[in-house]
Amino acid sequence: MDIQKYKRELTVEEKAALVSGTAFMYTNPIPRLGIPSLCMSDGPHGLRKQIGEGDNGISQSEPATAFPTAAATASSWNPENTRRMGEAIAEECRYYGVHTLLGPGVNLKRNPLCGRNFEYFSEDPYLAGVMGAAEVEGVQSKGVGVSVKHFALNNSENFRFMGNSIASERTIRELYLRPFEYIVKHAKPATVMCAYNQINGVYCSENKWLLNDILRKEWGFDGVVMTDWGAMHDRAASLKAGLDLEMPGDTAVCRRWILDGIADGSLPMEALDKACENILRWVDRYAIPADETEPDWKAHHTLAAEIAADCAVLMKNDGVLPLNGQEKLHIAGKLFEHMRYQGAGSSMINPTMVTTPKDALDARGVKYDCSPDECDTILVFVGLTDEYESEGSDRENMRLPDDQLALIDRMCDTGKKVVVVLFGGSVVELPFADRVGAILNMFLPGQNGGTACAKLLFGDENPSGKLAETWPLRYEDVPGHESFGKSVNEIYTEGTEIGYRYYNRHKVPVRYPFGHGLSYTTFTHTEWTQDGDTYSQTVTNTGSRFGGEVAQLYIDGVLRGFQKIYLAPGESRTVTVTVEPEDKPVYSDELVIPQEPPKYPVTLESRFTDLKQTFMGRILFNAVLSVAAKQEKEAQKLPDSPERDNKMKGAQFLRRILESNSPRSMSMTAGSSMPYNFAQGFVELANGHYIRGAKCFMTSIKVPKLPKEEQK
Ligand code: BGC
Repeated sequence: MDIQKYKRELTVEEKAALVSGTAFMYTNPIPRLGIPSLCMSDGPHGLRKQIGEGDNGISQSEPATAFPTAAATASSWNPENTRRMGEAIAEECRYYGVHTLLGPGVNLKRNPLCGRNFEYFSEDPYLAGVMGAAEVEGVQSKGVGVSVKHFALNNSENFRFMGNSIASERTIRELYLRPFEYIVKHAKPATVMCAYNQINGVYCSENKWLLNDILRKEWGFDGVVMTDWGAMHDRAASLKAGLDLEMPGDTAVCRRWILDGIADGSLPMEALDKACENILRWVDRYAIPADETEPDWKAHHTLAAEIAADCAVLMKNDGVLPLNGQEKLHIAGKLFEHMRYQGAGSSMINPTMVTTPKDALDARGVKYDCSPDECDTILVFVGLTDEYESEGSDRENMRLPDDQLALIDRMCDTGKKVVVVLFGGSVVELPFADRVGAILNMFLPGQNGGTACAKLLFGDENPSGKLAETWPLRYEDVPGHESFGKSVNEIYTEGTEIGYRYYNRHKVPVRYPFGHGLSYTTFTHTEWTQDGDTYSQTVTNTGSRFGGEVAQLYIDGVLRGFQKIYLAPGESRTVTVTVEPEDKPVYSDELVIPQEPPKYPVTLESRFTDLKQTFMGRILFNAVLSVAAKQEKEAQKLPDSPERDNKMKGAQFLRRILESNSPRSMSMTAGSSMPYNFAQGFVELANGHYIRGAKCFMTSIKVPKLPKEEQK
């Protein structure tokens, strides 16, 4: 593609279209010049290719493999897993004609309650960077681009569309930007997705310091920066700041702002041209025709189980595991049959098939029909369900559901050996840890988690996962817990001390530390020896089973290198890790805390729940929420089935998203079904200005037809 020629030939109207998305997941084609459209799709741990054009909600997508989520894959400490998963997802992308995958998500887990922690890798920037980079390389090696998200400091959900992450430059650079920097420099992602939130008062979508000065100039990123869906605020300011593509687009107002800005000179043509150039380069590279060969779904299902088995963490074991097959088993907990294997939200996949622990035990012919009194071992399958953990809102506490805790207690009261099998994407308190014999954490293991679980329980596979985040004793031990997720201003008072950096330094006891994970065999590690930037240690399998182990190198208490190895009984291997030199400029620790914005009058940036302050606002709020309520009611009528589960998830997610939306973000997400003048009308009405509100509704925003409509 002769990009310079296209740049000369594109009209300003076509340029304004090229930098805006369309039909929810596509870029705008320019048929006159033969510029094709690119198709994007979530991401990150499997494909959510919506059926047809437009937004069909999260439950209507093509069947695809649901791989373990990042909370699981990070715990494998094996980047080969995310690389192989990336390759497999890319094959599915190629089959469905998807050109860019919206993932991986590499934000740090600042607080265990963040609703999206299941989609993120770790509390440690190095581990998150290495695992994310391997996924990027895997996907891109097959000719599909990625969008690394959500750039940056997107660490909570309750105020996701308007939140202001307030942190010192040192905290931002030494911690939160690190995974992105690592991935940009090592894996060259095609695109980066900017986050919804503000950083120190400036929205990421128009943050020149973030997008231009750091991402492009300091790190040398030369791909496309797109918005998260609906993260646009001021279109002209965003172009000037280095933001190329507005998603999902079809917002007349953004094209209007561009055309007006160019006409009156307030938006330099060079800024628009630069964005067009970045987008054209991306289209040129990735707009390839769909692959007709169907992926090997069965092989991907098997791969999902292999990865899940390498991720699971054996948190505790007094010898009850592995099972020898002779036990008289009783099974409790509804997750045995209704395994939770993926998260809720935009990453939700319509799986090609699902193998639960029940399916897997039945396939092995395991008998588990003993009662709690007749039996000698009890397996309890518990964990977080979708009501408790989802994109769109943060969790309210760090506990397992009460009924599940009560169930575990009842099982322990029998005096039998109790094994707890845990599912879920984030940390929970484990008050029962001292009472049970073993805890096997499967995280969200993907669609074939049942197979992995059975193999681990019966010892065909040896657990080798290590925690990628600390498991504190209780939520009150978490730094900054008092204020997390409670207001628009999210203040990072703990600075660089998150996760193990905090617990170790302040000697706060934890349930299970970062890096912890048991095995059915035993290992010894020699001390690390140093030769310049290279460190070595010898690991020996001193037990009687084949198993995986992770050599972890901490310098000054910080993870600087690691390597996972697999050893036969008696085998030794010397691991060598080369540490990347760190330049250590001194950044400011200063924290500038602004005032909370007033809740009244309602503005375009108000959280939707704030509309409820006024009579008319309440009517509008209820009208908007009724969409989700209707979907939920319809789902409830369906018979118990995966379809019902998916529809319920979809409806619950929609409710969360609607509650946390602002009038502006809703209009920026909904395209022509909620134009910007409607959002303005909502605000006027909610503030009691009925005539002004009515005027807004009647004043539509005029823009030229899109190039694809011209063609028709
Ligand atoms: C999420 C992104 C996702 C996008 C498209 C947004 O709401 O934050 O992670 O990629 O939707 O579905």
